[in-house]
Amino acid sequence: MKFFIRVPLKVTLFGEHAVVHGKPAIASTLPIHVSIEAMDIDGDRLIITFNNVLLPIESLALDRKNTKIIEVKTNEETIKKFINYITTALDICEDEVRPGKRKGFLIDLKSPVPTGVGLGTSAAVSVGTIMLCLASYLSTTDVEKNLVAKLSWATEQRVQGAASPMDTYTITFGGIRYIDPSTPKAEFIESPIKMNFIIGYTQKRFTTGMLVRVVKERLRKLQSMTHIIDAIGGVVEEAKNYILRGDVESVGMLMNINHGLLDALGVVTQEHHVIVNMLREAGALGAKTSGAGGGGAFIALARDEKHAEILKSVVKTLGATVVATSLGFSGVEI
Ligand code: MEV
Repeated sequence: MKFFIRVPLKVTLFGEHAVVHGKPAIASTLPIHVSIEAMDIDGDRLIITFNNVLLPIESLALDRKNTKIIEVKTNEETIKKFINYITTALDICEDEVRPGKRKGFLIDLKSPVPTGVGLGTSAAVSVGTIMLCLASYLSTTDVEKNLVAKLSWATEQRVQGAASPMDTYTITFGGIRYIDPSTPKAEFIESPIKMNFIIGYTQKRFTTGMLVRVVKERLRKLQSMTHIIDAIGGVVEEAKNYILRGDVESVGMLMNINHGLLDALGVVTQEHHVIVNMLREAGALGAKTSGAGGGGAFIALARDEKHAEILKSVVKTLGATVVATSLGFSGVEI
């Protein structure tokens, strides 16, 4: 059987880090996707091709005369990371549906953005692989999404050591989601008016796992950090109400507050301070680091579509890459 799976990437609007400590968060899928083409193969071999995966290139050697590339060194760690998520997802899924069984798959993976920039590529690979495994073993494309989300979250937890359900649940179900990590539950929330965001990223220097550990360590040491986590939880609850009401001015103000609180947690880089301040000076209603921090993804709320284009050119001059000017609606599809 052959499978084609489209897995959206995601952006965090509110509540990153605090969600690891039991607070709610708001995230959304994006209209950009990781795609997985796969088929069952005989035996228990796993063949993975990384066609068109945009990898951070470590070095490149050029023949000056013919301007021919003679050597490209890609970041092996990135490939190893993907392999780890794929094999872990398959193990978890097979232990759930056919304990002890291991099946062969040929998997071709394509990603429009590099891994580890805070847009959920790891979660997308986990969700896509779990979807593939369940569809293959249960011989149906009508896969129970609650099971996909649950097993994908277990994959992230096993690989990273700690992970909230935010990325995997948002990517599984799609659209803007209010995540309650205690249940876990991913409630769909919708604004009555269109919100114009720009979403981009800069190079990220630390992994999500590292940043989650840094915040955890500070929380263990400093009582004041608990108040920051509580404050982020409060921002999320307020933001949910203003999104539902379509009050974009208030949503923007809360994005700015959330950015300040992320800074207090110690995960905002100098480069992101510059980008966020420039976006605000260019009239953004709100702008913040998005995801684990340490560079990586950011999100800004524009006044309208035209203004989003202006903000896009502002961040491009600062060397950032813009990946979307709107949020997505769909979750994982097979
Ligand atoms: C993940 O995109 C962002 C963090 O909140 C970690 C998590 O939710 O697992 C920092």
